[in-house]
Amino acid sequence: MRSFTGPFLSGRLRIVAYAAICVLTFICLYPFSDYRKLPFVHHDAPIAVTASIAHSTSTVVEPLASSVESSPAAVSSTPIFQQPSLSTFKTSTASKTKARATATATAKPSASPTQQAENHVKEPLGAIVAAAMNTTDIDWMHELADDWTLFPYIVNNPSPPLELSIPQNKGHEAMVYLTFIINHWDRLPSRVIFVHGHRSSWHQEGDIVTLVRSLRLPALESAGYIPLRCDWYPSCPAEIRPVTHDAVQWGPGVHREDAERGISDAWETLFPGVAVPETIASQCCAQFAVTREAIQRREKKAYEGMREWILNTTLIDDVSGRVLEKLWAYIMTNDAVHCPPPQQCACDYFGQCGDRDWPVPPEGLQMWPSQ
Ligand SMILES: *[C@@H]1O[C@H](CO)[C@@H](O)[C@H](O)[C@H]1NC(C)=O
Ligand SMILES: *[C@@H]1O[C@H](CO)[C@@H](O)[C@H](O)[C@H]1NC(C)=O
Repeated sequence: MRSFTGPFLSGRLRIVAYAAICVLTFICLYPFSDYRKLPFVHHDAPIAVTASIAHSTSTVVEPLASSVESSPAAVSSTPIFQQPSLSTFKTSTASKTKARATATATAKPSASPTQQAENHVKEPLGAIVAAAMNTTDIDWMHELADDWTLFPYIVNNPSPPLELSIPQNKGHEAMVYLTFIINHWDRLPSRVIFVHGHRSSWHQEGDIVTLVRSLRLPALESAGYIPLRCDWYPSCPAEIRPVTHDAVQWGPGVHREDAERGISDAWETLFPGVAVPETIASQCCAQFAVTREAIQRREKKAYEGMREWILNTTLIDDVSGRVLEKLWAYIMTNDAVHCPPPQQCACDYFGQCGDRDWPVPPEGLQMWPSQ
């Protein structure tokens, strides 16, 4: 017995001892190893991660540090800036586009929410394109990153990443919106939300994160274009009268007349061969959700022409930006007057169906139809 159990136990002990030595060695050497120092850089980092780069977190952040360095909060939000990598977007969109094309060929539009639930791989719902300044706090975009692909254009960043570059910082948000459309023409996401980048503002129905989450996608599929502000004040139902110049003023009308004149003068350049409508109106403020089909209602060269007009014009940005601002709804829907009643817009598009006192147009302007 002894001669049997003896060697057996000592053999086991030997294994335990070796194991203990291994563990102790690992624990002793671990603090000096480089693995410990590569915390979160494994995602999308465009550069091969070497130990020396990994040591300095700021190197990874560098591409956008210049535009956001004064705001410590913004620096901590680097995932936003690394996330919108076109490569991720391209590959996922290419397969999605095919899948969708097949789906729409066989089934009819009603698809989206159920289709998404059935998909095993989660597809982005679309893109959020922000025309922000380096002073705009766009941290909120991060909260939507799981569902939407983010394109935070910083218009006054002197050296933006290539995929977020614009030809010139001119014409306010119009330059960004048009550039996004032109650059992504062949792989446009099925939905795009164009925004200014502010989290809350009178330009929209409340907090933007809540608003985007509450956006009813089936309503977007059928409407094609949804303004992020439903209130008629100060632009509906007859803000621009490019032929007769007799609009009833509602609200402060900042640069309204200049924009109206700009629209009359630019109309033939922007929409060659189309008669100028007598009235142009849509809910204020150049922030909207739109479908790929609505964008592609016009040809790519139409958008290129609009951008060229901005690049050429001698109008100040406050006016040239407004010329396009007043025209987005027309561009996307072909309705010169696109003013869904505010309560219907809020309820159908965003599920905000409670009673609310919407500002009523002044004397001389039409009221929305009663329901
Ligand atoms: C924003 O950009 C401008 C011009 O590019 C620069 O002068 C300014 O310091 C930047 N501001 C912030 C807050 O980064
Ligand atoms: C912009 O200016 C160029 C050069 O003058 C001209 O050829 C072009 O037609 C203009 N484009 C638009 C859209 O105004």
